[in-house]
Amino acid sequence: MLALPELPPAPLHPLHLPWLDQAGVEVAVLRLDLIDPLISGNKWFKLRDHLQQAAARGAPGLISLGGNHSNHLHALAAAGQRFGFATVGLLRGEPRDTPTVRDLQALGMRLHWLGYAGYRARHHPDFWLTWQHSYPGWHCIPEGGGGAAGVSGCALIVEQARAQLATVGWDDHDAWWLPAGTGTTLAGIVLAEASGRIVHGALAVPRDHGVPETVHALAGTDGYVLHDACRGGFAKVDDRLLAFMDTTERQCGMPLEPVYTGKAMLALREQVESGAFAPGMRVIFVHTGGLQGRRGYAQAPESDEAQCQSGRHSIL
Ligand SMILES: Cc1ncc(COP(=O)(O)O)c(C=O)c1O
Repeated sequence: MLALPELPPAPLHPLHLPWLDQAGVEVAVLRLDLIDPLISGNKWFKLRDHLQQAAARGAPGLISLGGNHSNHLHALAAAGQRFGFATVGLLRGEPRDTPTVRDLQALGMRLHWLGYAGYRARHHPDFWLTWQHSYPGWHCIPEGGGGAAGVSGCALIVEQARAQLATVGWDDHDAWWLPAGTGTTLAGIVLAEASGRIVHGALAVPRDHGVPETVHALAGTDGYVLHDACRGGFAKVDDRLLAFMDTTERQCGMPLEPVYTGKAMLALREQVESGAFAPGMRVIFVHTGGLQGRRGYAQAPESDEAQCQSGRHSIL
């Protein structure tokens, strides 16, 4: 495969919060949000192998899909511009003007709005044929950067954390904690761990939206635990979550967003306070980025009806 330039490794930072100190649980955060201003978070790790495959076979461009706040399309558009691929985004719903959509256009991504029914058709076996016909030779990337190529790129997350344990004064750790949307990042970490340290996934979507099945298919049954953390639905925000995020950001200076990292941190707090982690345990929390999507919360969120019509979650 062709070698793409690497982004700088994600730094590992100690996290101090009163509820952690009180429980005697040590947490360090792997700040994937800091690797790049645009190609941020777990998206880079999920895209790397896709980009390498596209480069290896000389694909002129990259096509993928997502919602109008999509972190995945945002990173893809930025990576395309950075590494010389044209990009096409297939968007859920009707045209909308969001900060993310404006960025996609500014980054040179060509957009096609599929409506809601058109977007639901993404699970149909022939879905990509039409697009491959319109964009011959282009590399098609599943929603959220999933699949085997998405999983394999996430092994680098484990490598980067291990290489930096000494910087937080650790020689090892006991567990991982991260948000799960499709479960691809979690599966990549589980496989790279090979059942060494338990991987906890805080579900950003309801449990019946397919994550357990996806993780099972990609990584088997062992080495991880999935926790319900979506608080009533994907991207649903409530006052307790917002207050928790506000307090946490002020206490530790690390930005969170409400869809993935905020909910994952709140779920961690609930587990720590319930005594699930013994004093002295060391946990790596993976900050998976997504901060660009935070801008969408200044606008009226998409209606519940639209979210239901779309089926499953789709601002991945
Ligand atoms: C910021 C952020 N965190 C976490 C996730 C979940 O990652 P995965 O789909 O690999 O479970 C996503 C998107 O999927 C995301 O955008």
